Amino acid sequence: MPVTLLSVQKVAVRYGAIQAVENAELAVAAGEIVTLLGANGAGKSSLLNACMGLVPLAGGQVHFDGQRISGTRTEHVVRRGMTLTPEGRRVFPGLSVADNLAIGAAASPQLRRETAARRTEMYDLFPRLHERQKQLAGTLSGGEQQMLAIARSLMSNPKLLLLDEPSLGLAPNIVDQIFDIIAALRARGVTILLVEQNAELALDIADRGYVLAGGRIVLSGTPGELRASGLERVYLGAH
Ligand SMILES: Nc1ncnc2c1ncn2[C@@H]1O[C@H](COP(=O)(O)OP(=O)(O)OP(=O)(O)O)[C@@H](O)[C@H]1O
Ligand SMILES: [Mg+2]
Repeated sequence: MPVTLLSVQKVAVRYGAIQAVENAELAVAAGEIVTLLGANGAGKSSLLNACMGLVPLAGGQVHFDGQRISGTRTEHVVRRGMTLTPEGRRVFPGLSVADNLAIGAAASPQLRRETAARRTEMYDLFPRLHERQKQLAGTLSGGEQQMLAIARSLMSNPKLLLLDEPSLGLAPNIVDQIFDIIAALRARGVTILLVEQNAELALDIADRGYVLAGGRIVLSGTPGELRASGLERVYLGAH
């Protein structure tokens, strides 16, 4: 049996009167790529942020790698081996590529000691970032900023990477490059939970998927099962 890395049990997220996530159940096993699909406002980012401890849980529990992590601080979650590349490729625009990467390794003294070695690995994985290591992040193209955002998350050497809409707003050839990198990461042993608007692309690469609608998981299964259900049309507004 594969080891369950992430287990989300009956998770709820509320913002005042808004119920963003309700009773969500989700699991990711080591080595998997799992995709979380859903329309705008379905609660995808809220669920990822709740796993990271970035928004409080209104109910339920999250376990990672055999330990309960809900209720702990985000730095603790990162040190345990789970990290998030947030929506909107947030980089520090006034800092260089190299300094942005260093921030990704700031969660513990041990990670900080490994900064140089990890950065070399990231430059290997993202040659464009290598060429631009001294460039200010704010002057990178959108695709390069997304690569930097992913590389920065990988600086903490995660077992599980949560990716929130990595392809949003990027040209098709850059999207292909990002998906090639996702496949390369899996080959390197990184487990991935991928939130995507582009259901087709996500289902092509994923082992399993979940569909969120109105804050609830309404469907889960293999890519074949999800495609056969036709539900992604309803929930994703696919054409
Ligand atoms: N900080 C916040 N305060 C109040 N409401 C919020 C907050 N963040 C999200 N929401 C609301 O919670 C619901 C779910 O939002 P969320 O960002 O999780 O959706 P999403 O599935 O990630 O959408 P998208 O595909 O547009 O990124 C939405 O109705 C949104 O308006
Ligand atoms: Mg979102």
